[in-house]
Amino acid sequence: MADTTFGPKGWTPERLGDQSGKTYLITGANAGAGFQAARTLLNKNAKLVMLNRSKAKSEAAITKLKQEFGINADVSFIRMDLSVLDSVRKAADEVLKFVPRIDALINNAAIAQVPTRKLTVDGFESQLGTNHYGHFLLNGLLFDRIAESKGRIVVVASLGYNMGLKTIKFDDMNWDQGYGANTAYSQSKLAQMMFAYELQDRLAAAGRGDVQVFVYHPGSSATSLITTSGSRTMRFIWWLMTKTPMVQTAEQGSYPEVMCATEETLTKQRALYGPTGRMEMVGPVGRGTLNTHAHDKPVMTRLWDESEKAVGFNWNL
Ligand SMILES: NC(=O)c1ccc[n+]([C@@H]2O[C@H](COP(=O)([O-])OP(=O)(O)OC[C@H]3O[C@@H](n4cnc5c(N)ncnc54)[C@H](OP(=O)(O)O)[C@@H]3O)[C@@H](O)[C@H]2O)c1
Repeated sequence: MADTTFGPKGWTPERLGDQSGKTYLITGANAGAGFQAARTLLNKNAKLVMLNRSKAKSEAAITKLKQEFGINADVSFIRMDLSVLDSVRKAADEVLKFVPRIDALINNAAIAQVPTRKLTVDGFESQLGTNHYGHFLLNGLLFDRIAESKGRIVVVASLGYNMGLKTIKFDDMNWDQGYGANTAYSQSKLAQMMFAYELQDRLAAAGRGDVQVFVYHPGSSATSLITTSGSRTMRFIWWLMTKTPMVQTAEQGSYPEVMCATEETLTKQRALYGPTGRMEMVGPVGRGTLNTHAHDKPVMTRLWDESEKAVGFNWNL
């Protein structure tokens, strides 16, 4: 049954109060849902730090945002390529130097539906490397600053977690066998969700209530995700889909992201937030269905341990 916590229209930015004094970090905020979330937060006077891969796209995004919200809009970017662990480490160093508080770190950036198997410079399958390992390391490096700020970690899932293997392929993390653009993407998003749910468990076990961790997905939203990294066929299918009511706007896709970063009344962390309308792909934002394979305890514990080894970082919670 659809969640009615926020009324028939679901959560919308109309609920968002003044954000003066708050700082939000968003990965991949120069396009798509991340850019729209940036707009909503700046509109309420938040300070926004984007962690983006492309310098040119980031500068263009900042110009656009300053045109809309004025020259004094507090928006900046730090260059970070999530697919390169060294770049993540450098970006985290800069954040720790220049950003004194983090009210929420929104793990928004991703690549999707990469048609052929590629490895990152660190030797990971590209989608797992970018979407999961890059963010896993970034969150670990920034965790203390988020905790000092009593902030939130927001992780972006995808309904794709219900596709593919629905578990982690530990014996072949890099897909030496049986690579598929969608299966590998689905696993990378499942890995991100497992990271978040395992982090919730570890924080609870350590008796820490200083950081909250929320997971959401944007449903099916007209962003540049497929056009950036998907195959020609996928791009065509996606283009056709965007002409149907099964796809909502990028702005609507950003609502759950902003909700999870800001909504004070949101308390249930072991949940999946997002659109609650047709097939949970579009519609009013609230709490959706969370299937149990996303928090299969032995799998997520093992993934955590393997991820620490893979990125060479121990969380020490
Ligand atoms: N759109 C949907 O229907 C949908 C559905 C389910 C889940 N999602 C999730 O929603 C989130 C937002 O995606 P979107 O749909 O808004 O896609 P998008 O328009 O393609 O935006 C993705 C952002 O990620 C950045 N990015 C990609 N690779 C990066 C890297 N290596 N390092 C740093 N940044 C990187 C991109 O910036 P550059 O181009 O500069 O690299 C871009 O700003 C993603 O996590 C995606 O998995 C989207």
